[in-house]
Amino acid sequence: MAAHDDTLAGWHGARSLRLAERLRGAMPEAPHRGLVREGVLRRAVGLTLEASGCTAPLGSRCRVATSGDRWVDTEVVGFSGDRTFLMPTGDLQGLLPNARVIATRTKGEVAVGEGLLGRVIDNDGEPLDGKGPIRAEGYVPLAGTPINPLSRQPIEESLDVGVRAINAMLPIGRGQRVGLFAGSGVGKSTLLGMMTRFTKADVIVVGLIGERGREVRDFVEATLGEEGLRRAVVVAAPADRPPLARLHGALRATAIAEWYRDQGLDVLLLMDSLTRFAQAQREIGLSVGEPPTTRGYPPSVFAKLPALVERAGMGADGHGSITAFYTVLTEGDDQQEPIADASRAILDGHIVLTRRIAESGQYPAIDIEQSVSRVMQDITDAPTREHIRKLKRMIAAYGAQRDLIAIGAYQRGSDPVVDEALQRWPAIQHFLGQDVRESSDVPASREALARLLDGGAGQAFPLNPNNAS
Ligand SMILES: Nc1ncnc2c1ncn2[C@@H]1O[C@H](COP(=O)(O)OP(=O)(O)OP(=O)(O)O)[C@@H](O)[C@H]1O
Ligand SMILES: [Mg+2]
Repeated sequence: MAAHDDTLAGWHGARSLRLAERLRGAMPEAPHRGLVREGVLRRAVGLTLEASGCTAPLGSRCRVATSGDRWVDTEVVGFSGDRTFLMPTGDLQGLLPNARVIATRTKGEVAVGEGLLGRVIDNDGEPLDGKGPIRAEGYVPLAGTPINPLSRQPIEESLDVGVRAINAMLPIGRGQRVGLFAGSGVGKSTLLGMMTRFTKADVIVVGLIGERGREVRDFVEATLGEEGLRRAVVVAAPADRPPLARLHGALRATAIAEWYRDQGLDVLLLMDSLTRFAQAQREIGLSVGEPPTTRGYPPSVFAKLPALVERAGMGADGHGSITAFYTVLTEGDDQQEPIADASRAILDGHIVLTRRIAESGQYPAIDIEQSVSRVMQDITDAPTREHIRKLKRMIAAYGAQRDLIAIGAYQRGSDPVVDEALQRWPAIQHFLGQDVRESSDVPASREALARLLDGGAGQAFPLNPNNAS
């Protein structure tokens, strides 16, 4: 009993401390009794500011005075000797040499609560939609709270994403983290939009990170619509925001998703894009003097990526799940690009979209051969897996002969699998394609696959007049 009382007293004590901390953070202009340290701005090059005389822990916030009695919010991103490196989390304007730098001792916190549903916010949690202030029910750390890997629930159920090719060929599990890999303009955002509309989830959290600003409105109004927005939270930090803002946008979206998951809900987290998140960290790392490694990415990028992605996934027992989709830009369709490579290694599956398929007019341009869902074994039964294998074999066999087929040099009869694929090709393309407004649930998708494979041989397809016998 005494122990219990002690715990309670300790808990109350900790809470008062936290409260005091927050109050102090809210009053940066009034430092007193050495609790808050003040320094001076010594150097400002690009987006990196150097202050001396203020002692603030890494990751904490400082405010820098600017001309016209304004403040710029910054975060401590590094130090060297008595120099503290800061980067702005907002616009950087009106800086003066020797300006006051005040450590506020607030750490990144994320306001969470039911009131976030239906709202569009920025990386600092400020509403962008003009619908008034958002009432917070609590605060969670921006960087999340790690889950003991042993207490995570396993992925056992399949999740309906409403896209036939994925539901049938690349089954996604509830709590899985998937990458959407493609070059620019191949249809990543559009596919993400489709899944936003059709996926069966309690809450959808969308992080629009480092992409075009105009896409934010488009996503909110056209993709989500009024109906979709009701169960969604959108965090937007487009390309024109400073790198820390983009970084925080991704962290905030993840923290909000975590909070809903911990309320026992099934959350769908969509991040467009993971590459921009990595690039934001690259800008920060390089500007504080980290050494560049592959393609200019400093080592911290390869630490931040798994730290972000590991926060999604199944929750601890009794909690909900976060199924996450991250778009990854593969520049010049290079699948070995360092961010693509690192992401592939930490995600539980990847869906590759290729330009060749998009150019042939098939959307979504999913390349079944290159895509993998690593939880397929756990969420499908043997007959389903056999169907998937069969169609994959056909697509692969067709792919190996594609050039010959294109010029009419393939001889029918050389390979029975290719012959079958040839015969069914229009049906296969029809099966893999899907209009953005059309949805196909898991049973319908699996049935379509079964029909495609078992149904009569389909109509013969006069592939090439020279070759058609
Ligand atoms: N399912 C689809 N049906 C029809 N057209 C599509 C589809 N998906 C993509 N497109 C076409 O491709 C274009 C680019 O799509 P989208 O913006 O989704 O690509 P992205 O990969 O997100 O591009 P970026 O790398 O520039 O962000 C669209 O404007 C549209 O014309
Ligand atoms: Mg896009």
